[in-house]
Amino acid sequence: MTPLHGDELPLLLTPVPGPESRAWVDRLAQRECPAITSRRARRASALGVSDTDPVVWKQARGAVVEDMDGNRFVDLTAGFGVAGIGHRNPAVVKALQAQSDVLLHAMGDAFPDPRRIELLEKLGALTGLDHGILGSSGSDAVEAALKTAKMASGRDGVLCFSGGYHGLSYGALGVIGYKRSAFQAPFAGQLGDHVVQAEFGGEIPDLSQIGAVIVEPIQGRGGIRVPAAGWHQMLRKACDDAGAILIFDEIYSAFGRTGRRFAGEHFGVTPDLLCIGKSLAGGFPISACMGTRAVMESWGASKGEALHTQTFLGNPLGCAMALAALEEMDRLDLPKLARAFEAKLRAALPDVHIQGKGAMLGLRLPETLRLSRGLLEQGFLVLPAGETAEVLALTPPMTISDAQLDAFLAALKSLL
Ligand SMILES: Cc1ncc(COP(=O)(O)O)c(C=O)c1O
Repeated sequence: MTPLHGDELPLLLTPVPGPESRAWVDRLAQRECPAITSRRARRASALGVSDTDPVVWKQARGAVVEDMDGNRFVDLTAGFGVAGIGHRNPAVVKALQAQSDVLLHAMGDAFPDPRRIELLEKLGALTGLDHGILGSSGSDAVEAALKTAKMASGRDGVLCFSGGYHGLSYGALGVIGYKRSAFQAPFAGQLGDHVVQAEFGGEIPDLSQIGAVIVEPIQGRGGIRVPAAGWHQMLRKACDDAGAILIFDEIYSAFGRTGRRFAGEHFGVTPDLLCIGKSLAGGFPISACMGTRAVMESWGASKGEALHTQTFLGNPLGCAMALAALEEMDRLDLPKLARAFEAKLRAALPDVHIQGKGAMLGLRLPETLRLSRGLLEQGFLVLPAGETAEVLALTPPMTISDAQLDAFLAALKSLL
């Protein structure tokens, strides 16, 4: 296998997907719950493309992914926003290797290790929020935030917003707005009746019964949507007036992606609780809910049995990788790279309506499903986003090269 450097241009050796990918996906279909990996083969002709099966990833580096057939793709998704500093960033890999020589696993709430302590210190300094609860997935961070808000406010009610996506574990599922009826319907009877939904960017309802308000400051999966100026401040004030806890879910938008370290900075608003995950460790599943001292102290001190924990809480590999990733983000100056990406896209596509900020952009184009498949067949990974797939979402590794971006723009223009 030829190692990748990360700045390669697309290389297509077979049709997409190729025979190796097809064989692996067939095996997957024999063993995985059918609800997970989308094949949608029957829709291929409707989309005007040859196939809709996925390609199976073999290796990745920087902005490049290689599949089982040796086809190379430029990844404008950063793997769901995870590889902000590039896939398999060398500094992160080095930290993983070094940590693996020492300690793979500690014991969550029972016996901590130094990397977990260092990571909490670092996240506290970066966010200005003193205390944190670590988790594995983004939805873990959301669960921790919802529970903390209940502890701090004493109220059960939660306000969420249309188009918001916070994960699919039960607490998070209850507060999503994105394709709500599709995701929630089978489980509606188990989700409780404590959640109120309002229009994202719209009027803020009465919060007197609400303990937690959860919002993505810039929506990701819901279509890369940015509310009008002043809305976040209004929300902050409404929470303060009503004694509700404001949760910013920045699992997608944090760490430079929008052109600031945190998206909330664009609006001059600090939340009480901040959820982060995805790109935090450059590819290891680790997340955090950070909060103010006052809000976190509402849990009270552990009486020997942690009220909230998990087996892999603060996993040493993930913490070591996150520490290295955070250093890399600073070294690379991700916000600056993200802003340069946005400037280049806007200049290259003057006739396309582009929403979002930095390296979190949504292009309003027709037939984004067909377009994303067409781009895949030209060696570019992109995903549609939004309730009706109304935008083509671009959330690349911010290390994507100019040549890769130029090639992408040429491919996109050829399909428009
Ligand atoms: C804003 C936001 N919150 C939460 C999540 C859920 O994270 P995970 O899939 O790691 O549970 C996502 C995932 O896309 C997200 O974009």
